[in-house]
Amino acid sequence: MQTAATRDQEQLTVGADALRFRITSADSDGALLAFEIRMPPGGGPPALHRHEPAELYRVEHGEFAFYIGDEDGLVTRSTAGPGQVVAIPGGREHTVRNESAGDSAAFVVLAPGAEFERFVRAAAEGGAIAALAAEHGVGVTAILSARNPSVVMSKELFEGLGARTITVVDSDGSSAVENVEKILEDLIAQGKADAFFTCGSNRLLKLMQRLGKKHNIPGQVAMEQIMVCGFGACYVCMRTFVVDGKRVLKRVCRDGPVFNMQEAVGW
Ligand code: FES
Repeated sequence: MQTAATRDQEQLTVGADALRFRITSADSDGALLAFEIRMPPGGGPPALHRHEPAELYRVEHGEFAFYIGDEDGLVTRSTAGPGQVVAIPGGREHTVRNESAGDSAAFVVLAPGAEFERFVRAAAEGGAIAALAAEHGVGVTAILSARNPSVVMSKELFEGLGARTITVVDSDGSSAVENVEKILEDLIAQGKADAFFTCGSNRLLKLMQRLGKKHNIPGQVAMEQIMVCGFGACYVCMRTFVVDGKRVLKRVCRDGPVFNMQEAVGW
């Protein structure tokens, strides 16, 4: 069991933000999660999101910008400074950003907080999908691609979550599309590929789209894009998708960042 002293040493980094748990879900028998968050200028989740638990911010220093949707989905921006408390109702679209010129910090409470805590811990290490899959007893094969074996990321994380990992690298040619295709075809033949999830590589996205169509396997892709506003107003983050045979533009920040794999045109 984690003591308060060891927990005080534990700091997670998610994107540019630093989180320090003060009361974990286990500490409170699942009732809540309390943590401190420090955001540098430009920090905060880029996209609007929602979760069932309500969330409460007490700003400690600096300034935060809050984007919170109402019951009709209209998103309103407000700012809060030291000592101010902002409540985000459960289930509402929202995001919290540091749009000021200096660092900001807040004390945050979610109730209940177990799901968010699991997500944040996994996201801090890059394994959110594997964490959710493990929680629901779904087998995962993670194909980890890198330039060479010394820069392969998150192998221990995935294996710690019960996922099987296969490493492919440029340095020995194993990351070539033909080899990854063979790996995927083998997994499909073994009945171990019900869905594909990918990010980062255009050539692997194209491969998964082709195999997904061939074997009728659905999939999702996490799109990367430069963002400015992060909540759907500036249209800087648009990418092209093909939906029902028609080319359409979608905003990665507001409409994604995760999309139907077959609709993405790619990078
Ligand atoms: S970053 Fe402005 S609309 Fe997406």
